[in-house]
Amino acid sequence: MNQKKLGVLIHGAGWVSTQHIKAFQTNPNTEVVAISSRRWESCKERAEEAGLENILLTTNFSEALKRDDVDIVSVCTPQQLHPENTIAAAEAGKHIVIEKPIANSLAEMKSMRDAVGKAKVKTIVSFVLRWNPLFQTIKRMEADDVLGDIYFVEADYQSNIASWWSGYEAARKRDTGISAFLVGGCHAVDAIRWFAEKEEYKAATPVEVFAYSGGWRKGADVEYNYYTNTWSEGMPPLEYDGLEVALVKFDNGVLGKVSVNFDSIMPYTFPIEIFGNKGSVKDNRVWSHKYPGQSDWVNIPTILPDSSDVTHHPFQGQMDHFVECILEDKESHCNLEDAIITHEIAFAALQCYETGKPVKLPLI
Ligand SMILES: NC(=O)c1ccc[n+]([C@@H]2O[C@H](COP(=O)([O-])OP(=O)(O)OC[C@H]3O[C@@H](n4cnc5c(N)ncnc54)[C@H](OP(=O)(O)O)[C@@H]3O)[C@@H](O)[C@H]2O)c1
Repeated sequence: MNQKKLGVLIHGAGWVSTQHIKAFQTNPNTEVVAISSRRWESCKERAEEAGLENILLTTNFSEALKRDDVDIVSVCTPQQLHPENTIAAAEAGKHIVIEKPIANSLAEMKSMRDAVGKAKVKTIVSFVLRWNPLFQTIKRMEADDVLGDIYFVEADYQSNIASWWSGYEAARKRDTGISAFLVGGCHAVDAIRWFAEKEEYKAATPVEVFAYSGGWRKGADVEYNYYTNTWSEGMPPLEYDGLEVALVKFDNGVLGKVSVNFDSIMPYTFPIEIFGNKGSVKDNRVWSHKYPGQSDWVNIPTILPDSSDVTHHPFQGQMDHFVECILEDKESHCNLEDAIITHEIAFAALQCYETGKPVKLPLI
């Protein structure tokens, strides 16, 4: 088959873009044809390290969007730019990969949904853990009735996000980062939606949320770096609570508990617990009615969601799935519409802190 490859424009030439570029280079049906960013030097750096020659490197996103050889735009900029970048890409008729979090407000999410709906382009949001091998194994087991009917799920995003991260300066601020659930915890929020639904390629729909926030890091000028196990003082503070805990009720009766913990002094972890009426999962350990006489947990030797490093994230699976959706003209289970549902839980939690009352969903 000698089909023309889909051209990809990478926008925002930072940390996560390195893995978007790699995934699109590896997919046999795509090629990276352009990189745009705030600084031309960053575009050049990304192109050089990926061995990309004779591609467009530019600081002018609008001009890059006009190119006929661009079919897909990967939005890898800081979160506060995702709405305007997504809307511009949709208006230019491009399919769009949107990094999480997709937006900083409900109104922005609505505008993005309207623009994408009008342009009839395909989208995928980088809830990349849906392609993590442990996640895939658990979903397959749920669909195979290994756990029976699910009644309770829990996931926790425990990552001391700090200055080691290139995106921290904007993400730590209330105006641009908004909350810990939005900045990083949305991965765990998405995980409880994913595991609360037995069907393999579907996430559950939340109907009510109650949440508290707390922790110790907000306003503190000390920082811990879990990559180097070192402390620093006089550092720019986190401007919102680093700990959020939410209870979520789903429309299928499943209850969920989810937390984000930027305040934890330990390496990154992402614990998972799932309880069904015929079995349970704790991370990669399984107890099930399918294993009669079971006398100890069954351990699944697989890749766990146990690293915050983007090189560890399964972007290849995500991008391969997206390209298949474009080529076969089908919607992704992880499209903008679905991601809005995940983000609404984070926004509902913020409403709880204001009112002290449970919040009914949907909000938009
Ligand atoms: N799905 C995941 O697991 C995952 C993992 C990591 C990050 N992310 C998300 O990906 C997004 C980017 O994160 P990151 O870690 O890659 O951050 P980053 O390293 O700071 O990269 C962001 C890039 O955006 C560029 N940029 C900033 N302002 C811009 C503007 N006005 N116009 C065009 N480009 C601009 C910067 O470009 P210059 O270098 O040109 O100044 C920077 O290189 C965030 O939303 C983050 O939450 C997701």
